[in-house]
Amino acid sequence: MLEPRDALAPLRALICALSEPVMLISPDGVVRIANAAADEVFVTPMEGARVRAHLRQPDASALIERALDPETPPEAVHRAVMVIGFASAETTWQITARRLDPDAGIDGTVISLHDISHREAAEAQRRDFVANVSHELRSPLTVLVGFIETLQNAAQDDPVARAEFLGIMSRETQRMAGLVADLMSLSRLEGDERIRPREHVSLTDVLRATIAALRPRIEATGVQLDWAVPDDLPEVTGDHDQLVQVFHNLLGNALKYGADGGRIVIGARLLAQFAAMGGPVIRVSVTDYGDGIDPIHIPRLTERFYRVDRARSRDQGGTGLGLAIVKHIVNRHRGRLLIRSAPGAGSSFDVVLPCAAPVPS
Ligand SMILES: Nc1ncnc2c1ncn2[C@@H]1O[C@H](COP(=O)(O)OP(=O)(O)OP(=O)(O)O)[C@@H](O)[C@H]1O
Ligand SMILES: [Mg+2]
Repeated sequence: MLEPRDALAPLRALICALSEPVMLISPDGVVRIANAAADEVFVTPMEGARVRAHLRQPDASALIERALDPETPPEAVHRAVMVIGFASAETTWQITARRLDPDAGIDGTVISLHDISHREAAEAQRRDFVANVSHELRSPLTVLVGFIETLQNAAQDDPVARAEFLGIMSRETQRMAGLVADLMSLSRLEGDERIRPREHVSLTDVLRATIAALRPRIEATGVQLDWAVPDDLPEVTGDHDQLVQVFHNLLGNALKYGADGGRIVIGARLLAQFAAMGGPVIRVSVTDYGDGIDPIHIPRLTERFYRVDRARSRDQGGTGLGLAIVKHIVNRHRGRLLIRSAPGAGSSFDVVLPCAAPVPS
């Protein structure tokens, strides 16, 4: 049955008003109506096109055959997932097809597409995260299980071996405790990333507290720590403990990975303005003169569990969550994290934070 073209006008108006890609297909598989979103997905005007030529992935073409089969009951809803990729990006679409109610007087099937890429990406991220956490917990657990067995058997009457094994077990337990503390920190931060901190905080106090906490490690590495922070820095709006956490990780990293350079500089400067942040801001930098980082790694350093040299970081008790936490805290403070590094010459990690109140000139 072929309706006069005008009979489709209200339907066309409706379909064209929808923002998701939608098409009306005739029983022989020709697209009768397609909105702009559908044309965009297939990068071609779809009206008049044969739908089978465009939905060719096996699941999608099976869906079309089922939906257009005259034997299929009209109330059936058909669904399939299809990935459409053009040069720059891939999108995962859920396709839904359903015959129009035959009593409506138009014989056709409506096909709509729903972008589920974000859902897929979030799901993949969650899977990776669980795999990473399990992997990080498994190695210390394996060590603990092994040593407990040894202590119960062979090393039972050997006080020297016992003391050594207990030392290793204590280190591995601390690693697991550190990992769990970092994971809890991350999940708390994700919860309140949108809530801006309210305290007025002196960055000088924050940096002093950080150095005091790391004093034993600074002394153990024998590195020279230079202080280039002016005495009259204005305050920032922030969360004192979280900012200590930021600089504890940055200075901790400089000590772990950059101490070979023999010198670490903690500097701070007040800037009248900075990029899109307006101003004034304070830019704090933690600079080391160690091995530096290959530029290919820099964009990924703030990903969870990302480590340039897994073995080296692990030896130092690192889990690769430090910079992910830093990034979250800096975001919560509406600040910026800037990483500059030259292989062989060292690295600078800068944190830019907005000042609490305009500085009197
Ligand atoms: N100052 C630095 N010099 C060289 N490499 C660095 C420096 N800071 C960080 N990195 C590299 O970036 C990686 C990620 O750092 P991040 O602080 O996130 O993790 P971590 O220090 O390995 O572990 P954690 O901070 O969880 O204890 C490190 O493993 C290291 O490879
Ligand atoms: Mg770290």
